[in-house]
Formats: sequence, C-alpha cells, structure tokens
Amino acid sequence: MNDKQLVALEAAKFVKNGMLVGLGTGSTANYFIDELARLQRENGLSITTVASSTISAQRAQSLGLPIVALEHIASIDLYVDGADEIAPDMTLLKGRGSDLVKEKLLAKAATQFIAVADESKLVNRIGQNFVIPIEVIPFAWQLTKKSLEDAGGVGHLRPNAAKDGFWITSHGSYVLDLTFDADFSANALNELINNTPGVVEHGIFYGLTDAILIAANGKVEARWA
Ligand code: 5RP
Repeated sequence: MNDKQLVALEAAKFVKNGMLVGLGTGSTANYFIDELARLQRENGLSITTVASSTISAQRAQSLGLPIVALEHIASIDLYVDGADEIAPDMTLLKGRGSDLVKEKLLAKAATQFIAVADESKLVNRIGQNFVIPIEVIPFAWQLTKKSLEDAGGVGHLRPNAAKDGFWITSHGSYVLDLTFDADFSANALNELINNTPGVVEHGIFYGLTDAILIAANGKVEARWA
C-alpha cells in the first residue's frame, strides 16, 4: 500500500453512519472514495456523498455510493481532500486542476475538513513549489491580471492542453497562474486575492483545515488545528 492510499484509509475512519461526506478530487481523494465504497459494500456503512468534481462524482456513482448535487446541500459533516502544498500553519494550496471552486465551497461547508497527503506536499510557505491558481471571470482577465501584477504578482493566463487557446475550468473560468514574493504571508495573499475584482476563487485554502493527515514511509501523523 502506498502512502496516499494509507492516509486515505486513515481518513475513512472518521466517516460514520448517516454522515453527508464531501469527496475531494485527485489521486489521494480517489483512494478515499474507493475505501468508502468498500466500507459500504463490506461493512454496511450508510452515508450520502457530494462530489467536488465531475470526475469524483463519476467514480462515486460507478462504485454505487449515494450522491447528491452540490446545489441541494447547505452544509456537510465531513470533507476529505488532497492538497498540492501544506504549510506549517495548515494553509493549503489546491486546485492544480480545474475544480477549486467546488473544493473550497465544500471545505467551508464542512463541520470537519480533513486534508490528506503524503509528505511530499509539506512546504515552508505557500507557493514554494507551485504557482497560485487564480480563477477569473473570462472577460475580466486582463483587468484582474493588471491589478494582481500591480500588487506584485508575476505570471500568465494558463494555456489549454493543445496550446491553441486558454484553459477553462469546470466552473467556466480562466486561470491566472501567478507567483508572489516569498515575503507575502498566506494570510496576506489570501486577503489580496479575495479583494481583487474579477477573481472567482483561488487555490489558497486559508483557515479552513481542521486536521491534516500526513503519511510518510508507511506511517500516518495527524495534526489538529
Ligand atoms: C485538485 C487538488 C488535489 O487535491 C491536489 O492536486 C492533490 O492531488 P493528488 O492527491 O493527486 O496528489 O487540489 O484540485
């Protein structure tokens, strides 16, 4: 069993009968979804799920997990998702793909949000290994880019895979991939990007995480907020 699977199985121990459980997106979240399906099949676990992406919804559906649409819920009991970076203060960077809008909604809506990762995701500061993905309203991208550049951001509009157009997220946004000076705290960056017109959502998950499960060399360490 690899570390991503190990940590996902550990997170599944927090799932109890009757819960409405948010499903994250990515390879670690996939292990969590698979484990929920196994527990339902073999142990009679009875839960309802809500997915942060079409790909996770499809996986849950194909495995027979009951699933409700995001627009039908106002809160959830537990959300489990991976991360691209995890800072010492438990701020996360997420959304390398296209699904950070739903991911952040579920993280915020959850009574408990548990982030799961292997130790490769631990960083000293947000933005250390990855650019910060910022979803913007398509018609606003130039104005928003200029505002963020004036504040110190450097980067570009993400191209699509064929490099003949721009990346469009599942929410229908463009993505600005920006880096900022290391002097910016996660809190300051979160505030700055939140307060920039044209931004739909961004990948800094500040103050949302209740617990982090980190797996390293076959062992899981839990950190609580
Ligand atoms: C997707 C995410 C993922 O959780 C993040 O990219 C981690 O993925 P993986 O578990 O495959 O390493 O934020 O938007």
